[in-house]
Amino acid sequence: MNRSPASADAPLLVVLGSLNMDVVVRVPQAPAAGETLHGRSIDHLPGGKGGNQAVGCARQGGAVRMLGCVGADAHGTALRDALARDGIDTRGVRVEAATPTGVALVMVEDSGQNRIVVIPGANAAVQVDPAALRAQLAGAAFLVLQFETPLDQVGLAMEVAAQADCKVLLNPSPMQTLPGAFWPRIDTLVVNELEAQMLSGLPVTGITEAAVAARALLARGPARVVVTLGGEGAVAADADGCRHHPALRVKAVDTTAAGDTFLGALAVSLARGEPFDAAVQLGIRAASLCIGRPGAQPSIPSRDEVLASPVPPAPIALP
Ligand code: RIB
Repeated sequence: MNRSPASADAPLLVVLGSLNMDVVVRVPQAPAAGETLHGRSIDHLPGGKGGNQAVGCARQGGAVRMLGCVGADAHGTALRDALARDGIDTRGVRVEAATPTGVALVMVEDSGQNRIVVIPGANAAVQVDPAALRAQLAGAAFLVLQFETPLDQVGLAMEVAAQADCKVLLNPSPMQTLPGAFWPRIDTLVVNELEAQMLSGLPVTGITEAAVAARALLARGPARVVVTLGGEGAVAADADGCRHHPALRVKAVDTTAAGDTFLGALAVSLARGEPFDAAVQLGIRAASLCIGRPGAQPSIPSRDEVLASPVPPAPIALP
């Protein structure tokens, strides 16, 4: 579906990140080592954390510039076309002739749980041109980053964002150790429970522990930290304290891109100047719709769908 361009007053978000063709195999359950089983279906669907987050932002009404790299192949063309259909500016997506487009092998169980293996391909060739990025960040509310592109380029992009006075929203996934220089440059950090545990060095086994970890991460520099907890919702921490945001009860069809969808809705809401807790709630509503549908980008809801969806219970302040 072609989406109409973002409205003139839409907040601008720049997403630097990965673009993958997801090869999605549905299986009753993941095979054990050495086991062969029949799958239910195979599909090629647009994905990649960077691309998904860009689509997540665009479908919530953000004006989005995507920066990344694809190969000179059919997957690369399909991924760029899919972003363009969502009204995303893809002029910053470089075509790298020497490498194939990134591919993710996504195995989805009947339970909705997934297992993903990413072959980075052209995502590993992402290179930040500081002067070009400075121009691309003009007027942007956020630079959105993940860890599916080279870490040194993520660091360089953060440096340019700091010089351009553009806030950084970081989703350090898949997890790698964060260099010390990253911390003061992060405005908003979004992590899942495993990432929170690895980054903080603290156990994250429930809501209380997530709050302790969120506070520890906040103390390292970000203005806001969100720890997403799947079926338990999310914990949000900022200078005003820590709150638990309960989840909505939904039957999971496919959890792929739920985190990316959450992040897109959160980013656009924050970019619109809405309160942090309202932004987290919107993210939960968007992610709840996403997990009820198959695929990565095809499962990301529109703003109208999110606004028509159930509202989760109010956040609960944590001691
Ligand atoms: O976050 C989900 C994404 O992770 C998938 O679309 C896959 O491409 C991997 O990057």
